[in-house]
Amino acid sequence: MEHENKQRMRDVDLSVDLGGIHMKNPVTVASGTFGYGKEYAELIDETRLGAITVKGIRAHAWPGNTLPRHVEVPGGMVNAIGLQGPGVDGFVRDYMPFLRSIGVPVIVNIWGTSEEEYADVARRLSDVEGVSGLELNISCPNVKEGGHAFGTDPCTVASLVTAVRRVTRLSLMPKLAPNVPDIKVFVRAAQEAGADALALINTLPAMVIDIETRHPVLANKVGGLSGLAIHPVAVKLVWEAAQTARVPLLAMGGIMGPEQAIEFLIAGATAVAVGTANFIDPSTPLRVIEGIADYLQRHAMRSVKELTGSLDCG
Ligand SMILES: Cc1cc2nc3c(=O)[nH]c(=O)nc-3n(C[C@H](O)[C@H](O)[C@H](O)COP(=O)(O)O)c2cc1C
Repeated sequence: MEHENKQRMRDVDLSVDLGGIHMKNPVTVASGTFGYGKEYAELIDETRLGAITVKGIRAHAWPGNTLPRHVEVPGGMVNAIGLQGPGVDGFVRDYMPFLRSIGVPVIVNIWGTSEEEYADVARRLSDVEGVSGLELNISCPNVKEGGHAFGTDPCTVASLVTAVRRVTRLSLMPKLAPNVPDIKVFVRAAQEAGADALALINTLPAMVIDIETRHPVLANKVGGLSGLAIHPVAVKLVWEAAQTARVPLLAMGGIMGPEQAIEFLIAGATAVAVGTANFIDPSTPLRVIEGIADYLQRHAMRSVKELTGSLDCG
């Protein structure tokens, strides 16, 4: 079985270029669902991943929200972890030596509550050996502008991407929010400001109420919905984004196995990220890689690049 898998992977070209990041296959993990890589080291062979995307990092260590901060729902989960993390210095000290030893590209998800904080984090990570790219989480509140999420206003997105672009030569990949009226406007804003690639989608705003106590289940009251339930929403947004995008797309949202990943590639994605599924079965990203290779063989395609954007609307 193992031999067959290796043979199949040799016969097709799975490599992709994600905005300057060379990936040996198009599969990474979604930020926040795979810790900083170290936590999953005993569970899967991480050297087989196309890239590792780590949980969100801000300038300083951050405790996140109080408990309870996640709840299962049909088809997924709602979380309000609140971006707990070790900050730039803690991340570089405690996790980068391990991540460097894996030998696959490392994409660092970054966030802040002001443009200055994003730029500060980006600048400090730019000189760190082993960091290949930055994914900008723009679904967090812009404190200076009254707490609206950065990602829901195209002008704010353009200004933020410009500010970060100015301080880094790393591959820059804003992660678009799904709860916007027209995703194409945000695609254009981000790419014109200097994005090398775009990631989509982040979680969808959601809420769960305990009907017996009549309390919100999450301490934060609201959170983000992820998992299989959001997959068709994500496919539609990726497909729409691909109509306008000149830069490659990294798609995520409800990948539970190869089928959903292949759907994203057909819709126009260059690469995909496995998220919530890592909590259920940490081997999912490897199953997805094998399933894509198998699909390419069955459909007589030699390269995964042939699959990207191959949707037939006729
Ligand atoms: C527990 C949890 C934590 C997350 N943390 C982050 C984060 O730190 N930064 C970020 O940009 N997205 C974060 N996300 C969003 C995921 O990266 C992904 O965009 C989303 O969950 C959709 O993919 P999925 O349905 O496969 O999980 C988180 C999601 C979950 C479930």
